[in-house]
Amino acid sequence: MRKPRNCSKTMSPPRKSATPGTVAALDPFKAEAEAKRLRAEISRHDIAYHQNDAPDIADADYDALKRRLEAIEEKFPHLATADSPTKKVGAAPLKEFAKVRHAVPMLSLANSFDDEDVTDFVARVRKFLLLPDSAPLEILAEPKIDGLSCSLRYEDGRLVQAATRGDGEEGEDVTQNVRTISSIPDMLPNDAPPVLEVRGEVYMTRADFAALNAAQLERGEKVFANPRNGAAGSLRQLDAGITARRPLRFFGYALGDVSSPIAATQEGIRQQLRKWGFETPTPATVAPDAGGLIAFHKKVYGERPDIPYDLDGVVYKVNSLEYQKRLGYISRSPRWATAHKFPAEQAETTVNDIIIQVGRTGVLTPVAELAPVNVGGVIVSRATLHNQDELARKDIRVGDHVIIQRAGDVIPQVVRSLTDKRSENSVPFAFPAICPECGSIALREEDEAATRCTGGLVCPAQAVERLRHFVSKHAFDIDGLGERIIKEFWDEGILRAPADIFRIAQHAESLKTRDGWGELSVGNLLEAIEARRSIGLDRFIYALGIRQVGQATARKLALHYETLPHLLHEMATMLDVDSPARQHLLSIDDIGPAVAEDVIAFFAEPQNKQVLADLQAELAIQPFTRPAVTESAVTGKTVVFTGTLSKMSRDEAKAQAEALGAKVAGSVSKNTQFLVAGEDAGSKLKKATELGVTVLTEDEWIALVRG
Ligand code: IVH
Repeated sequence: MRKPRNCSKTMSPPRKSATPGTVAALDPFKAEAEAKRLRAEISRHDIAYHQNDAPDIADADYDALKRRLEAIEEKFPHLATADSPTKKVGAAPLKEFAKVRHAVPMLSLANSFDDEDVTDFVARVRKFLLLPDSAPLEILAEPKIDGLSCSLRYEDGRLVQAATRGDGEEGEDVTQNVRTISSIPDMLPNDAPPVLEVRGEVYMTRADFAALNAAQLERGEKVFANPRNGAAGSLRQLDAGITARRPLRFFGYALGDVSSPIAATQEGIRQQLRKWGFETPTPATVAPDAGGLIAFHKKVYGERPDIPYDLDGVVYKVNSLEYQKRLGYISRSPRWATAHKFPAEQAETTVNDIIIQVGRTGVLTPVAELAPVNVGGVIVSRATLHNQDELARKDIRVGDHVIIQRAGDVIPQVVRSLTDKRSENSVPFAFPAICPECGSIALREEDEAATRCTGGLVCPAQAVERLRHFVSKHAFDIDGLGERIIKEFWDEGILRAPADIFRIAQHAESLKTRDGWGELSVGNLLEAIEARRSIGLDRFIYALGIRQVGQATARKLALHYETLPHLLHEMATMLDVDSPARQHLLSIDDIGPAVAEDVIAFFAEPQNKQVLADLQAELAIQPFTRPAVTESAVTGKTVVFTGTLSKMSRDEAKAQAEALGAKVAGSVSKNTQFLVAGEDAGSKLKKATELGVTVLTEDEWIALVRG
């Protein structure tokens, strides 16, 4: 459905098409030809209207075209295609969204907060690609739209599926909803490849958002906090008819799965998308260096009030797609892009109270409870005070007037207190020496900013937080065990340790009689739990919530140890500082001494040993399956790089080796299969020779991986 037009451009008279007779007079062949023509014409008008902002037909005439197509489809139902413009409203409401696995994961972006981060980004890219100073490096810059990302899949030119980002691997099927967004073409011209996924942002302009909220208020319905929430709430409607009435728009900015390349540069992708009827974020530029990017960022920041939609920064993308391919990904974000955020927005408010929150690892975090205040469109009523030292340094007190700030998704923070407005009888905040959750002593280790509760799993805050982490999306991913339920189950003693989750079935009968629960919800929960008895080692390790072990480190550990028994066996021998097992752990690329200490300490702790034993009794933990890789001579082998490489940077060589399924280690041991020695290789080369490890030159390595 089209939005009402508010542009005052003079419309040219409708194009003369063959005078349409009554639909009743059409035979099936003529009807088919006309339906086709009408669809094409309506699509063309949609492009003219949304992309060029230059409608070439009056509203009434556009509606007439649509009505005629509807009449034809009604008389000849076999002509009514699923993607017809007439289907843009009114599909039957869904019960829940189906899940969609993305053919190519939808990743996030690394952030840059200041000019130095941008200079570093450009330098890092140049270094990775081993570009000499004389070689140009173009980088495209465009606004970062504050909306909701979405992937649109076209097959043979037709929109067949639309999915939200979800966790990046799996999103929700919002195809019916997306079909109602008129700036999204249903059909692409013939030159589009057979498979094409267009990724971009569903968003709402500020003006449309304000109008929507006003209308919602009038109808006594829910108002949205900001355009982003408005867009998300409108797209994720089970009844696509509601989405159709919401003023959603779409900007295309990236590709997912494609059967053949459509351009050689990021700028080329933008141009091609526009030709096919998509809008792309504006303004945009291609800059030759960090200085150009920073200048563009400044310009866009200045123009922000005049840009009709919310931006939360500028995205920089290496322009050459060939370079993008070489740069690849690190963890969950591309090396070839970064989001340069806009500076934080600030506001003044007062501190009603200071409370202490206890996190999963027992850290006590002071949090300011505030008089609610609007900061850049979001109502903020809590802000973090980080830790004891920060709180003391800023000397924030209950009752103070303070400046708070938020930047993008970052947790709001208290910047400073306005001490001239402070009341005379205010006193500094006394940081507690005991955990407010369990009464155990709270301690601060030397050199650490954090104060921690020593209560371990007897502390409900830690246990509940740990359990919540255990079932979270990237860990066991158990739907239906939200924080509130976990807390209730904890209080009632049903759930104390992770393994208890897999014994919840014992309580099935009593659960069914709980308030708000029934046969169905208990059944669903138990089913979700059962489905997770079999779990990959990488998720399992991540779920344990070991300090400093996020998803990427958990994967590295899983990759190196492959099975849980092997991991536990190795960990058991590590308390000896000189043990080979400890050396092996430290040789894993990117695992430094601090992370290694946390890992070792976790597995040495008796409480944790018990937790692991209990879990092993309940679960089938699958050996780590490597991501699908092209089998090569180095798949499964351990490789160490040393010395200076000349054809590619060390980072690129490492990334390439990992993509081929090799393990990259930081030091040579008897487990190493290959040492790739560049120029000026030193002690590692010596050690490899002593241990009889195969030593390769850079060229030999390249020949090996090219097969
Ligand atoms: S490019 C591989 N360009 O920002 C990632 N993302 O923080 C390709 N976003 O999930 C993303 N505007 O939802 C790109 N012009 C833009 C964007 C943009 C907004 C969002 C997107 C992404 C998130 C990452």
